[in-house]
Amino acid sequence: MHWRRRHCCPINMTWTVKRSLFRTHVTGLLSLALLFTLFLFFSHQDWLSGRSGARENPLAYTVRGFRSPKGEANQSSSLRSMWRDAANVAPKPLLNLSSQQADGGVGGAVVGARMGVTGDFLSTNNSLQKELDVGEKLSGLPYRYILNEPFKCRDSTPFLILLIAAEPKQADARNAIRQTWGNESMALGLSFVRLFLLGTGKSTDTLLQSSIEEESSVHHDIIQQDYQDTYYNLTIKTLMGMNWVATYCPHVSYVMKTDSDMFVNTEYLIQKLLKPDLPPKQRYFTGYMMRGYSPNRNKDSKWYMPPELYPSERYPIFCSGTGYVFSGDVAELIYQASLSIRRLHLEDVYVGICLAKLRIDPTPPPNEFLFNHWRVSYSSCKYSHLITSHQFHPNELVKYWNHLQSNKHNACINMAKEKNGRYRHRKFHGERPP
Ligand SMILES: *[C@@H]1O[C@H](CO)[C@@H](O)[C@H](O)[C@H]1NC(C)=O
Ligand SMILES: *[C@@H]1O[C@H](CO)[C@@H](O)[C@H](O)[C@H]1NC(C)=O
Ligand SMILES: *[C@@H]1O[C@H](CO)[C@@H](O)[C@H](O)[C@H]1NC(C)=O
Ligand SMILES: *[C@@H]1O[C@H](CO)[C@@H](O)[C@H](O)[C@H]1NC(C)=O
Ligand SMILES: *[C@@H]1O[C@H](CO)[C@@H](O)[C@H](O)[C@H]1NC(C)=O
Repeated sequence: MHWRRRHCCPINMTWTVKRSLFRTHVTGLLSLALLFTLFLFFSHQDWLSGRSGARENPLAYTVRGFRSPKGEANQSSSLRSMWRDAANVAPKPLLNLSSQQADGGVGGAVVGARMGVTGDFLSTNNSLQKELDVGEKLSGLPYRYILNEPFKCRDSTPFLILLIAAEPKQADARNAIRQTWGNESMALGLSFVRLFLLGTGKSTDTLLQSSIEEESSVHHDIIQQDYQDTYYNLTIKTLMGMNWVATYCPHVSYVMKTDSDMFVNTEYLIQKLLKPDLPPKQRYFTGYMMRGYSPNRNKDSKWYMPPELYPSERYPIFCSGTGYVFSGDVAELIYQASLSIRRLHLEDVYVGICLAKLRIDPTPPPNEFLFNHWRVSYSSCKYSHLITSHQFHPNELVKYWNHLQSNKHNACINMAKEKNGRYRHRKFHGERPP
């Protein structure tokens, strides 16, 4: 089993966990391959972007690189032009599924996309640098706080701040998070601060706004500024969070930015990734790494990026916006960098550009299974060894969280029992990670 040696894990995971996570990823890879085949057939429709919750589907990001075959009646020629485009974008074959599989390609399309990129984006091609320089100047504080929590860090500095992007109307999701991974008493004596990031709903909906204000007065965990809460304003929302940290809690050790439909294993994040016993890192940034992605030039796509806004053929490395983690000092750096970089609506790409300008290289997480920007099928064993999983309805979050809590200390026992017989010979004779 080739993959285990290559992706050897500094964090100790049991053999059972690795096997089950590996199986999930292989399943994911096969599904991606299948999806991609479908995509080739249905290349006249931008169906991926229409899929609900596909926000950071790795396949969708890969698809960004292809020009739309729309308007061409000739399927064969449009397919051919797609392949030609793909070849232009990545000198090494982006779509060589057989080589990915031979490679043990965990992550499927993502692994394929990585192949064409080498080294530091800025030093290999300085066209991004030019874009950064022509970016329009933006004023420091464009939006006014409607709700703020300026004293969260007055009495003591927390170890971690969770910045959770949520829509105004998602009170259910906020409540589910408060009861589950956002419950401060999860942190085992370490303090963390939970903040929901909100823009404003429709100005006519005064009922919604007053219910948010009431929620805020009960929980004191909402910050809201007066910009419209839309998908295209997510970058504003993230920068609001960065600026909040820089202003009201600059000495926090770590920050995580995530979304309201995520499962986050806060305990694992704190104990196993951030390691509170060690001195806090500086200029640190990690998450699910997106390497070598190209801007989507299909006007109908949710991820469309106009060439006028971003002319380069490649995005710098960025971390999926579903959940990334950084040291406290980076909040101020990103906010300051953002003041001279033209705003792009793709929040995670934008943060990646800020990091590239700051010359902060995102650190790959200690193993590839920690941050998942798709949904990992639930098992207490898997979920006790990952940090993020995507696309959770509030009810599911509560259900799975409670299950995980009550099985925390024997999360993998059932699994081991169930599989022991079947895999025993491999367990004893198969190679183990060094
Ligand atoms: C489709 O495109 C190919 C190559 O460009 C061309 O040879 C073929 O005649 C076209 N077919 C139709 C039906 O237009
Ligand atoms: C795909 O990868 C395999 C193994 O690396 C290689 O032999 C083959 O030539 C590749 N195919 C293409 C079309 O590049
Ligand atoms: C957070 O967890 C504590 C201890 O498990 C529990 O008593 C409390 O009710 C929880 N808070 C919420 C909002 O569910
Ligand atoms: C973002 O918010 C601003 C301020 O409310 C608003 O004028 C703008 O239309 C919003 N942009 C989008 C794309 O929703
Ligand atoms: C840099 O990017 C531009 C435009 O994308 C391209 O024309 C140029 O050849 C690239 N230069 C290098 C050294 O890759």
